[in-house]
Parts: sequence; structure tokens; C-alpha cells
Amino acid sequence: MTGKVIDGRVIGKAIREEVKQSVGKLVHKGCQPGLAVILVGDNPASQTYVKNKEKSSIEVGMKSVLIELPETVSTDELLGKVEELNQDETIHGILVQLPLPKHIDEDLIIGSITPAKDVDGFHPVNVGKMMIGQETFLPCTPHGIMALLERSGVDLEGKHAVVIGRSNIVGKPMGQLLLQKNATVTYCHSRTKDLPSYTKQADILVVAIGIPKFITAEHVKKDAVVIDVGMNRDENGKLCGDVDYEKVKNVASAITPVPGGVGPMTITMLLKNTLLSAEKACKSQS
Ligand code: GUN
Repeated sequence: MTGKVIDGRVIGKAIREEVKQSVGKLVHKGCQPGLAVILVGDNPASQTYVKNKEKSSIEVGMKSVLIELPETVSTDELLGKVEELNQDETIHGILVQLPLPKHIDEDLIIGSITPAKDVDGFHPVNVGKMMIGQETFLPCTPHGIMALLERSGVDLEGKHAVVIGRSNIVGKPMGQLLLQKNATVTYCHSRTKDLPSYTKQADILVVAIGIPKFITAEHVKKDAVVIDVGMNRDENGKLCGDVDYEKVKNVASAITPVPGGVGPMTITMLLKNTLLSAEKACKSQS
């Protein structure tokens, strides 16, 4: 048997279409949602991500502002730019693309974004709100994975979800969101001993480790749901995930491909967060 493919392109497109409709209504009221993205330096991967964010926000009818700063920019200059955007009423979402150059204090910059415009959900205030289940901006990748699971009809109640990875951007918030949906959550990471003993128990397995095709059929329980957050190149230079898709798809009941699984959802949820921010700001103005 081959597992069902969870198609992030189709689900992402459907959500972006809903966002576009809502953006249209806000524009009609004279309140166009605006997203500002700051890119520091010339990391090619970051440049690609940022261009895609710009293109997608324009496609749904948002105002898009891209601010490109040189690698040599100082922390003070960057803080000044963020503050300018904090004050700009036409901007509802501010995203500083990570990673930042080593000489810049990343925590200081993230903490300087006003939480009301932190559409990445990285500000400590928003992370705290998420932890205690208050309404806030949820980090885009885990938020997108929750949307994939929900729209694929995956029941999480009482299920064992195993998350591999503990980054602030993906792993940690992922476990929290699964917990809020009443899954039993186990976190695994690079220091975990006997990883397969955990992964083989997973009803839902979320993999964010950054090693090409690391998870094989032997790691996966029959009929598990497998979510692959990886974005790597294989030995032939082809895009691949952290999961050996060709092998694992025969064991899993549902699986996300790479590309075309989690990837399209991250930008989609960024747009959704920006829309929510604009809806709030515009309501308080009128
Ligand atoms: N770098 C990799 N992923 C992300 C993300 O979701 N947001 C930001 N700001 N930077 C990233």
C-alpha cells in the first residue's frame, strides 16, 4: 500500500485564495494589508525565500515592502529601520529574515519588533502567549503543519506525536501546538539516544533535523502520518527532505513530499498572519 500524499501546494493555494478574498474586503474599506521584509546581506537561500514572500504577498493583494541592507549594517541602523516600520501605519507585518550576520544581536532585533506586527511569532511576548494558549501570531512553519493536518482530516486527540528537532522556529513551537490539540508529545533531538525506539512509537512523526533522507522505513510505524520539514539537496543536487520519501511512503498512511509539502505552507501562514494583523489594526481605526 502507498500512503496518501498530503499536498501542500493544493492546501496552501486554497488558504491563499481565502486570504486573497479577505484582503479584497479590507482594501475595499481603504485598509490594504502591508508586509515589510528586511533582508540583511546576500545569502542566496535567504534571497530566494524573501523574493517568494514578496511575490506571494503581492499575489494576494497586499502591499509589499522589501528592505535590503548590506552585510555590514550595524545593529543600531537595523534597530532604526525596525522602529520606522513599527511606527508606519501602512505596515501590519514585519519580518526580519534569519539568520542575521554574526555581528548583529538577533535576540535584540527580534525583541525590537512590536509584538502586534510580529507576523513570524518570534517575539518573546508572542512565544509566551502561544505557550499559555492565548490568541497570537503562531510561527509560520508549525502553524502551516497544523493546517495541513487539519485539512487532511488527521485526528490528533490522544495520539502520540514525535517531533524530531528543537529549534525555536520549528521544533519547540510544533510540540506545543500538537499538545494544544491533545496529542501526547515527545521531543527528540541530536542528543537523543536510540532515536528509532521513539520514532517507531509515533502516530504522527514530524521531522526537522536537516539531514537528507535520514528517516527510513525502519524508523516508522505502519500507518503513521509523516511530516517532513527538511529542505536539502541529495547527492545528485535534487531537492529532498529529511525523510526517505520513496521508502517511507509505503509504510505511512499519509506523508508530505519535498518539495510541495510543508514548504508552500510557511509563506501561506505568513500571509494569513499579516491579514489577521491588518484586520485587527483596521478594526481599531474605524
Ligand atoms: N529563516 C528561515 N525560516 C524563517 C522564518 O520562518 N522566518 C524568518 N524571519 N527567517 C527564517
